[in-house]
Amino acid sequence: MKIEEVQSSTKKLRIAAHSHIKGLGIDPETGDALNSADGLIGQKDSREAMSLICDLINCKKMAGRSVLLAGPPGSGKTAIAMAMSKELGSKVPFCPMVGSEVYSTEIKKTAILMENIRRSIGIKIREQKEVYEGEVVELTPIETEDPMSTGTYSKTVSHVVVTLRTAKGQKTLKLDTSIYENIQKAQVTVGDVIYVEATSGSVKRVGRSDQYATDYDLEADEFVPVPRGDVHKKREVIQDVTLHDLDIANSKAGGSSEFQSLMSSFNKNRKTEITDKLRQEINKVVNRYIDQGIAELVPGVLFIDEVHMLDLECFTYLHRALESNFAPICVFATNRGNTVIRGTDDIVAPHGMPLDFIDRLMIVRTKQYNQEEIKEIIGLRAQVEGITINKEAMEVFGEIGAESSLRYTMQLLTPSTILAKINGNDEITKLEIEEVKDLYLDAKRSAVMLKNNSVNYMK
Ligand SMILES: Nc1ncnc2c1ncn2[C@@H]1O[C@H](COP(=O)(O)OP(=O)(O)O)[C@@H](O)[C@H]1O
Ligand SMILES: [Mg+2]
Repeated sequence: MKIEEVQSSTKKLRIAAHSHIKGLGIDPETGDALNSADGLIGQKDSREAMSLICDLINCKKMAGRSVLLAGPPGSGKTAIAMAMSKELGSKVPFCPMVGSEVYSTEIKKTAILMENIRRSIGIKIREQKEVYEGEVVELTPIETEDPMSTGTYSKTVSHVVVTLRTAKGQKTLKLDTSIYENIQKAQVTVGDVIYVEATSGSVKRVGRSDQYATDYDLEADEFVPVPRGDVHKKREVIQDVTLHDLDIANSKAGGSSEFQSLMSSFNKNRKTEITDKLRQEINKVVNRYIDQGIAELVPGVLFIDEVHMLDLECFTYLHRALESNFAPICVFATNRGNTVIRGTDDIVAPHGMPLDFIDRLMIVRTKQYNQEEIKEIIGLRAQVEGITINKEAMEVFGEIGAESSLRYTMQLLTPSTILAKINGNDEITKLEIEEVKDLYLDAKRSAVMLKNNSVNYMK
């Protein structure tokens, strides 16, 4: 059985509205939330609560448990979840999704949930591998005449000669063309420290040899020392993957030649869709690796925003999935109060979630922001977007925020800057805000308008 390289399929967080958030903003000494840090303002209790959960995740005491962020719209639930993912860092998987994502005409709801659950479970695989490691001192592709071809460019690379040097000695290797391709992909040049895995032929560039550090002062490269020991040796290779990465690598979807599978002996040339059977097979192998001490489970976070969009079937499925061995930590968010559970006719429950499901949650509340906090958040956003607002205008933003909502106020930022530019100002003034505010209504004013003109609208 071989464990080879698996490509990661992590979902990217592309939510620009939260790009000012860098973490939970917790004082490392006291564990208290700072009033303004890491791009977060106020909402201290829920930030502290989530920071505690990060600590529990880091000491692996949280698997299979769930947290619900509940609060009115625009009170920072999604923001705090994003902050949590930043806080956990890249080694803990964090898979964000929105409840409504489960509704697809092609894929079953439960399959989508299962995929996301498996994206949230990390595995750290540690393996002793036979490698050739050293600084590249020679890299020469050897060309031969191609007898099959008649053109002038009839040469092909038949193999490549690589000489690797360590502190102890050096070795010249004759590698075949597929490894040469890997070398090219890794953009290896003379002076780099690399290792080539003996079994798979995959090439990893460790960094640039520090022997070259003085030549390239400006180079934004990582300099590494020339390896000690022999060129040919055993080296511990650590890989962080998720269960979903392994599913893909071993299924048809990941069947390209670049993709090398965890279990090359399993299902060889007989790759299938990601089925339950495949998942079970993978679980079995992973379990065995865990028992052998090769792999370590890293339960990550599955974040389901707008969780009230899930229906009864999904809740039932999740409930069961969270009881399995491979269960992630779930963070849910909702802005609903007592409402009908989707998929039922008339069962009303808090947050639109079945009572037995709610029963297993730890609930963290987020509160509406006050005028002062809204002003600070708007200030932060303006900074990120490179917008300047004068003092008076800042007050106006605060007032608008207090009487409408944080979201609405944020939306006014960009149109106001554009207007300011047209007016020849380099900062937003009260004038622009008043104008933009009349152009775009907030929910309250729009509702009043609807009521007053109801005769003109279709029923
Ligand atoms: N405490 C906070 N500090 C800084 N920015 C915040 C804070 N709370 C919310 N925001 C920002 O306000 C906007 C609305 O918040 P969001 O998290 O989307 O609300 P919710 O998910 O509760 O409806 C987002 O752009 C978010 O980044
Ligand atoms: Mg949200």
